[in-house]
Amino acid sequence: MDKKPDAYDPKKALRMVFGNNPDQHILNVVRESCREAFSLPSFNTTLQTIKSHFYDRNYDAVFQNPEHLPVYSARYAPSRALCYYHLFLEHPVLMKILEGGPSTILCIGSGAGSELVGITAAMVHANPALKIKKKKVISKTKDKVDLQEEEDGQQVVEHGSEACTPTESVNEEAQPPQEATSSGKGHDNTLGMEKLSVTEDTADAATTTEELPPPTKSAVKKKGRSNRHQVTIVMQDYVDWSPILTPMEEVIRRQMALGSERLKCETEVGNVLDLSQSLLERIARADLITFMFVLNELFQDKKRTMLLVAKIVAAMPSGAHMLVVDSAGSFSNLQVGERVYMVYMLLDHLRDLEIVYQDDSTWYRCPPTVTYPLKLENMRHFIRIYKKL
Ligand SMILES: C[S@@+](CC[C@H](N)C(=O)[O-])C[C@H]1O[C@@H](n2cnc3c(N)ncnc32)[C@H](O)[C@@H]1O
Repeated sequence: MDKKPDAYDPKKALRMVFGNNPDQHILNVVRESCREAFSLPSFNTTLQTIKSHFYDRNYDAVFQNPEHLPVYSARYAPSRALCYYHLFLEHPVLMKILEGGPSTILCIGSGAGSELVGITAAMVHANPALKIKKKKVISKTKDKVDLQEEEDGQQVVEHGSEACTPTESVNEEAQPPQEATSSGKGHDNTLGMEKLSVTEDTADAATTTEELPPPTKSAVKKKGRSNRHQVTIVMQDYVDWSPILTPMEEVIRRQMALGSERLKCETEVGNVLDLSQSLLERIARADLITFMFVLNELFQDKKRTMLLVAKIVAAMPSGAHMLVVDSAGSFSNLQVGERVYMVYMLLDHLRDLEIVYQDDSTWYRCPPTVTYPLKLENMRHFIRIYKKL
């Protein structure tokens, strides 16, 4: 007698990976990845040194010393990874990218691993293979269904609500988040952004755009069968974080059950401000570009960063998204002449970017029930999700 296939239970599938507490599982992944750092006798003194460099806003001194990197990751990656995990779960536009198709996420300044852990944990919720199984089971009760078409993943792109239940919603700050209904452009008040002279200073970028019109996403990708649900995460950074990222990837693959058919990890080392040809090519292929807690560091060099942003936007394929998260406090201030702006205001006024989601100030609060060898920090941050028009 034929055995009846088990009905697909997304909650059970998630429990198989996360156990009963996804947040704790994510922290365990970071702790396991950073176990060598925790055994360093100099851990506490190195952490104090890192903090004092941060206080002085001397970011190069924080990141250009290889001894700082494992300590930085162990201290800062856990709460950020949790924050990014929940951020993805809360936004269907981001989850859709994680369902593959295939897709590519380029994370600028992501060597410390927070993005890798947070995004891969969210990928567990967006497993299209599991959804295919569910559809197959359902389809058995109906007439014939073209299973091949389902396996190609073309019909299973909707983000399933059952499979995506954030354990906690955190959004408590003064300014309510806004789902943008239109482009978010057309503000009469440009907030003096013309003074940032993006257009003047980015003459090069404009030329680049004219010579090389940005490809559309469909022109860039061919959906091969072998990697049809694969998500490629490119970790870009100006220092070589491979001693951190290599063991972290190994732990993630094992603990999040993500095989090579589902997850591909790549690194790109170089100063993003130099915008190498290879980085430009990656930008042109990316479905999502992230700037997580890196933009205000880059804005220490205002002119080069404005030029960089304009060039990146010009090179992005139409329909691709950009996710920017950074401190909601004075660290993200940008002085232009006499006036002070938040760094996102520059991006908000770029003609080629549509605001898909904006929140000027929100908190991520780590749940009190989880444990980690160090104190976990709550994070007040702003969020922007843009779409390239
Ligand atoms: C504050 S950390 C944020 C790390 C990570 N994005 C996160 O959310 O935890 C800034 C990161 O950006 C990198 N970075 C700083 N300046 C950079 C530059 N000019 N080009 C590329 N990466 C840079 C640093 O090495 C570091 O990994």
